Amino acid sequence: MGPLATRRKVLNGLVAMPASLGIGAAMAGPLPRCLPRQGRYVGAAVTPELLLSEPAFRRRLVEDCDCITPEVHLKWEAIEWRPGKPWYANVDALAGFARLHGMQMRGHTLLWHRTTPAWAAARIESGDWAPVERHFANVIPRYSDVVREWDVVNEPIDTENGEGGLRRSVFHKGFGAGYIERALWTAHAAAPAARLMLNDYSLEYDNPVDEARRTAMLKLAEHLLARRAPLGGIGIQAHLDLAKGRFSQPRFARFLEELRQLGLHLSITELDVREADRRLAVDQRDRLVAAEVESFLGVALANPAVAGVVTWGLSDRHSWLQQEDDQTRAALLVSPPSPVALNRGLPYDARFAAKPMQQAIARALRAEPAAAVA
Ligand code: G3I
Repeated sequence: MGPLATRRKVLNGLVAMPASLGIGAAMAGPLPRCLPRQGRYVGAAVTPELLLSEPAFRRRLVEDCDCITPEVHLKWEAIEWRPGKPWYANVDALAGFARLHGMQMRGHTLLWHRTTPAWAAARIESGDWAPVERHFANVIPRYSDVVREWDVVNEPIDTENGEGGLRRSVFHKGFGAGYIERALWTAHAAAPAARLMLNDYSLEYDNPVDEARRTAMLKLAEHLLARRAPLGGIGIQAHLDLAKGRFSQPRFARFLEELRQLGLHLSITELDVREADRRLAVDQRDRLVAAEVESFLGVALANPAVAGVVTWGLSDRHSWLQQEDDQTRAALLVSPPSPVALNRGLPYDARFAAKPMQQAIARALRAEPAAAVA
């Protein structure tokens, strides 16, 4: 996390921002926010830094979306890296932006093993639930007017190195498998009307790992509901990956339907696409990405339990998928970066031009037949 001075600058800028939003510039192409979407929300992951520094991002966001997800700043370590001294300015700024534009904000995320502050992790691992209770009581009511869905536990499933399908996280080490139920009840006490969710990845493809993860998630949901835990929904992250082989529509449809029949709501919470081959012609790459998204959303949105779709960012330039890749890191050093060098797995390219993926999302929301793909 950056120094406090930087955080204050971001905050001050965001508070001043509404007056200077410059919304309303003409945009080409059909935009989801203007479309009938059968009551579903459409969102994107955001950071306050991006909202401040990228007018094009803000414009696309308010035109396309009625929901934002804090990509980083609602996580515990981003709020309370110093025990007992929570710092809310960044999330307050995002919540203020959402209120101003009549958007909702997804509550991502209350517990995640990767973003639990070290001081809290040590206490939780030794069997002390008080930090969790205090964190939830601090954060949940603060945003209750704008957050309807909370990812109470992020990424609890681990079928490869876990125990009984559950990740051996600090929460699991401190409290065993029962920590998930306990977290749901702790969240429920602070937000009895909110939709309380578990959010996870690799639930989409037809391979043994994803299949095992789907089975573990279903088993967990059934177990929690049988115990009358206040589980309201499952977040399907949907980090799609063209190297994973064919996306199996019938298998994924069956999984969603099994969850729906348990009475759960579903959300597509972090949609993006990792490309498999960036040596192809750029229009072919874009068609492959769009086709994957359209095939995926065709199934997801056919299920009435799916409440909304959030992409993990809007522009390739700011995608987390670039963070891990030497090729793209080099490309980002050039300003403006070459859009072709980057992974092209979000609706807009690095210069905020809409790509076929954006039109694929729009078509899927309108439930139009998928475009023919070469
Ligand atoms: O803000 C600091 C900056 O000051 C510093 O110079 C820089 C140096 O590393 O780090 C910056 O913070 C980073 C932040 O992203 C902003 O870029 C954090 O180190 C880094 O950990 C953080 O990563 C985020 C990660 O979650 C952990 O919070 C990613 O952006 C974000 O995309 C990722 O999102 C997760 C979902 O929450 C859960 N599902 C998977 C998804 C991708 O990993």
